Amino acid sequence: MRTRVAHALCRRRLSEQGPAGIAALGHRAYVGGLWDEIGKLQFEFLVSQGLAPHHVLLDIACGSLRGGVHFIPYLEPGNYLGIDKEAELIQLGRREELPAGLEDERRPEFVVSGSFEFDLFTKRPDYALAHPCSPTSRLIRSWTA
Ligand SMILES: C[S@@+](CC[C@H](N)C(=O)[O-])C[C@H]1O[C@@H](n2cnc3c(N)ncnc32)[C@H](O)[C@@H]1O
Repeated sequence: MRTRVAHALCRRRLSEQGPAGIAALGHRAYVGGLWDEIGKLQFEFLVSQGLAPHHVLLDIACGSLRGGVHFIPYLEPGNYLGIDKEAELIQLGRREELPAGLEDERRPEFVVSGSFEFDLFTKRPDYALAHPCSPTSRLIRSWTA
């Protein structure tokens, strides 16, 4: 059910990709809306799977930090790694969604890439989350193994 809803949102957006789509929809709706619900769901799911503050988390296709706003304050400094192909989404998330001072305190790492350049991060993750529109799970499994 949740998967079907996510795919429907993704299909609706296909006509409005990239910076034009972000400008048209806003950074929250662009990633699918349900900002508080989905962000919390991602966070609670990973914590239920054992994610603890000392773990390093890779958020693949992190977008405008719908999950990041929960993970960044929870994890120890330097332990949140976010990658997305849209620089603007990451910028908007950092500027408009993270509380002032949190970045200086928690020092999340961000990479802008559409080709899964995980090696650009300074760390390797213990956990990885992917809530994108494309199937990346095989890549994730091989890189975190
Ligand atoms: C449905 S949104 C989800 C964003 C975020 N995970 C969340 O839950 O809010 C899909 C995201 O995948 C990103 N994306 C799509 N293809 C990508 C790729 N090849 N590499 C990195 N990010 C990608 C988009 O820019 C967008 O931010």
